[in-house]
Amino acid sequence: MAVEFAGRGGRIALLDLDQSELAVTQSLCQALGAQANSYACDISQEASVIETLNRIVSDFNHLDVMINNAGILKDALLVKVKDGAVVDKMSLSQWNTVIQVNLTGVFLCGREAAERMIQSGRGGVIINLASLSKEGNVGQSNYSASKAGVSAMTVTWAKELARFNIRVGAIAPGFIATDILNSMSPDRLARVTQPIPLQRLGRPDEVAKTAAFIVENDYFTGRIIDLDGGMRL
Ligand SMILES: NC(=O)c1ccc[n+]([C@@H]2O[C@H](COP(=O)([O-])OP(=O)(O)OC[C@H]3O[C@@H](n4cnc5c(N)ncnc54)[C@H](O)[C@@H]3O)[C@@H](O)[C@H]2O)c1
Repeated sequence: MAVEFAGRGGRIALLDLDQSELAVTQSLCQALGAQANSYACDISQEASVIETLNRIVSDFNHLDVMINNAGILKDALLVKVKDGAVVDKMSLSQWNTVIQVNLTGVFLCGREAAERMIQSGRGGVIINLASLSKEGNVGQSNYSASKAGVSAMTVTWAKELARFNIRVGAIAPGFIATDILNSMSPDRLARVTQPIPLQRLGRPDEVAKTAAFIVENDYFTGRIIDLDGGMRL
């Protein structure tokens, strides 16, 4: 998404837990002639988000588009049963960690972005990354709940922020070929690809084009775009 917007003339602020991880993306953006700064930020920590957004506004003067993309998985069955006996449960820490990043992190980043967009008087666009799993997916009580929450916040913010000329949309991808799928075995990946009507994983550039559509279409707000190759859970 950063590279897509860099190619469209955007000035890019890249955020991740570890700033050094952003070097490749930063140089791809810069190769397109775009300004691209990177910032170490833990989106689950209020102080980190506030400090980072203050730095971004100071470096770029304003913030026009915020994409809440960071997200994690910690999959487990709610209750795992083997041979009639309960052998495991989703731990509270698996629940809390995912909610803290995927839901609280999006809340914090969205809130802080909206505040700065309102202060600038320029309006803006916020894009949240939901997931097909928002509908409920086996092994993903934590993740599915977080993404359903992100979808609900998207609609809520669109209603609250429209009067400030801030639009809010979400993208709900199915399976996209990124590092997040590394935790899935090749077997499981083959099994999840099989029911996708388009018979393949999505590509990051296809998510990026969807984000560009949301930014460029002034009548789009309060909706979640499913980008899943036609798959239904
Ligand atoms: N790839 C898919 O199939 C897929 C499907 C549906 C939804 N999504 C969603 O799309 C988004 C992007 O996923 P991805 O596939 O690129 O994942 P990814 O694992 O490749 O990248 C996620 C990034 O988030 C960063 N991150 C994690 N915790 C953070 C924190 N606390 N603060 C700051 N950064 C943090 C990680 O360092 C990583 O660079 C996520 O919200 C994910 O849930 C992905």
